Amino acid sequence: MSGLFISIEGTDGSGKTTQIKLLEKYLKDKGFYVVCTREPGGNPISEKIREIIIDKENTGMTAVTEALLYAAARAQHVSNDIMPILNDGGIVISDRFLDSSLVYQGYARGLGIKTVKDINRYAVDGLEPDMTFFLRLKPQDGINRKKNQDKHELDRMESEDDKFHTMVYSGYMQLARRNKKRIHVIDALKSVEDIHAEIVGAIERLFKEKGI
Ligand code: TMP
Repeated sequence: MSGLFISIEGTDGSGKTTQIKLLEKYLKDKGFYVVCTREPGGNPISEKIREIIIDKENTGMTAVTEALLYAAARAQHVSNDIMPILNDGGIVISDRFLDSSLVYQGYARGLGIKTVKDINRYAVDGLEPDMTFFLRLKPQDGINRKKNQDKHELDRMESEDDKFHTMVYSGYMQLARRNKKRIHVIDALKSVEDIHAEIVGAIERLFKEKGI
């Protein structure tokens, strides 16, 4: 087996972390070698880049700078963290991947999908998730969820206005429509158990398809 790459996407506060933990446990219980990671981040270099990106002090960051920083963090993540696990036959579950850049920088910031794909060509080196789950949550519901978490201070991206978050939401919906086979849209307002069951169902179908 040459490994399996799964990404989880969603607007802020859509419950990605909970679902990643549940999926990790499910797959580990089945005996798979599973590594969970996140973007931007996953290793010390990419985590440092993450700090720069989300720092609220960095108000003057241009959209291109932002897109390049996400791509730089991704380049390190792909070669340092993701590829070695896939080459070992493991399963990588990533909290966000290229789709986030296409939606946030390409669509919501207005750089365009093609520009963001071009910027990321060297970073992803042809890698695409085998399956992606988009936890769909109306933007304001997501921000309210985060605000209600104890002492959560909104970072630079979360502090964007409603218009930006609405663009992110519709960007994800467009991307999902264009990638029906890869991207599974799941209603994030469903119960944790129901969402997990949907994810497991789709993964099991993927295993069958791939003969795993
Ligand atoms: P997180 O809070 O889900 O960890 O993600 C950090 C923020 O970065 C979140 O607001 C989404 C944003 N983001 C982008 O804008 N582009 C990207 O390529 C990635 C990976 C995240």
